[in-house]
Amino acid sequence: GQVRLWGGRFADGPAEALARLSASVHFDWRLAPYDIAGSRAHARALHRAGLLDEDELVRMVAGLDRLERDVADGSFTGTEADEDVHTALERGLLERLGPDLGGRLRAGRSRNDQVATLFRMYLRDHARIIGGLLVDLQEALVGLAEAHPGVAMPGRTHLQHAQPVLFAHHVLAHAQALGRDAERLRQWDERTAVSPYGSGALAGSSLGLDPTAVAAELGFARGSVANSIDGTASRDFVAEFAFVTAMIGVDLSRIAEEVIIWATKEFSFVTLHDAYSTGSSIMPQKKNPDIAELARGKSGRLIGNLTGLLATLKGLPLAYNRDLQEDKEPVFDSCDTLEVLLPAFTGMVATLTVNRERMEELAPAGFSLATDVAEWLVKQGVPFRVAHEVAGECVRVCEAEGLELDQLTDAQFAEISPHLTPGVRSVLNVPGSLASRNGRGGTAPDRVAEQLAEVREDLARQ
Ligand code: ARG
Repeated sequence: GQVRLWGGRFADGPAEALARLSASVHFDWRLAPYDIAGSRAHARALHRAGLLDEDELVRMVAGLDRLERDVADGSFTGTEADEDVHTALERGLLERLGPDLGGRLRAGRSRNDQVATLFRMYLRDHARIIGGLLVDLQEALVGLAEAHPGVAMPGRTHLQHAQPVLFAHHVLAHAQALGRDAERLRQWDERTAVSPYGSGALAGSSLGLDPTAVAAELGFARGSVANSIDGTASRDFVAEFAFVTAMIGVDLSRIAEEVIIWATKEFSFVTLHDAYSTGSSIMPQKKNPDIAELARGKSGRLIGNLTGLLATLKGLPLAYNRDLQEDKEPVFDSCDTLEVLLPAFTGMVATLTVNRERMEELAPAGFSLATDVAEWLVKQGVPFRVAHEVAGECVRVCEAEGLELDQLTDAQFAEISPHLTPGVRSVLNVPGSLASRNGRGGTAPDRVAEQLAEVREDLARQ
């Protein structure tokens, strides 16, 4: 039968249309294990406050344990008539313990403080899962960097050839971004380790319950909330989670875009593994980067989850409003999306084949060593403004004559500027250019090796 939480003042049950609108069991059922854990902690709080005797507590916890097993094996589930997961589990408990004992658990709590607590617990668990998957991806990127030491590629700005860089340097830039995302998840978790249980509907409880003990039992290291109104009404922890997951989506999307470009015939920098690419139903030659494209596409969805949630929160007066029921589906979707996407993405990265010859052939193209000419001149005492002009003139002559910079003759160099002695040739090659960028964070092989070691060390601490 249907359990209603507010029978007393209502002569009629909810209209069918209201029940359909109101129901959330189909998406909040995933909170059931957390709800039961919260109920166990709450039962102990009631016991400590003298509102359940020893025997009642033992039977209550046994009933909750049984309910938990029945939920786990699917023999107990919520229905639309239950409205939400909390009401469904109340029915389950009443069915198992009878109305006298089962009806005692609701004292001193509200679905408002319950849901705020369980939602934090759920997201904290998934922050850890997603954090672990991020580490896997970072390791795949570090592995890719490590497997290709000394490989040069064209570094780009505006997607134009800019300066040669090490492939490992480029790949580690993505690992750095993901490392900050993982750090954001950890810092979010620390901020979210505060329990709203005990806030009641909004004002706290008159029953002498101890929210701190409940918080400790539920794994909230920073205790319970300082303000019950804030505890039940705030959802910035959800918005921040949605931001971090959207940011992860965006960072994946930027890697994805490069993989897609790199895998084209024109670039031919990488080849995707058969197991992590798809074919075409009509074109037999095709090998498509679907994982990267899905990552790029799903980043839009993750951003949408964030913006939709912020729009829901924007006009809400304190404290709880039913609008807040709309807070769950977007971030549940963000968790599901990343938990499916990340393993596939990591597999794609880990199995990329790198075309070293192609990258190195293109590394010096597009006059990407022009900056090296200018900086070499500066080391000869030429002001940078002049040096920039002279190097630009070299490029102009090369373009007109169809030459590369290192194909200019000593005479041509001397004609452009007397400062351009044959010594300039020392920087007109990719290894020399790379080695010269040896300040911290630069692309010189020693610096990149140093960075690799730092990232490895950071990963080992996760
Ligand atoms: N299912 C609701 C939610 O997700 C919690 C119930 C609170 N409902 C209420 N009428 N106070 O926000």
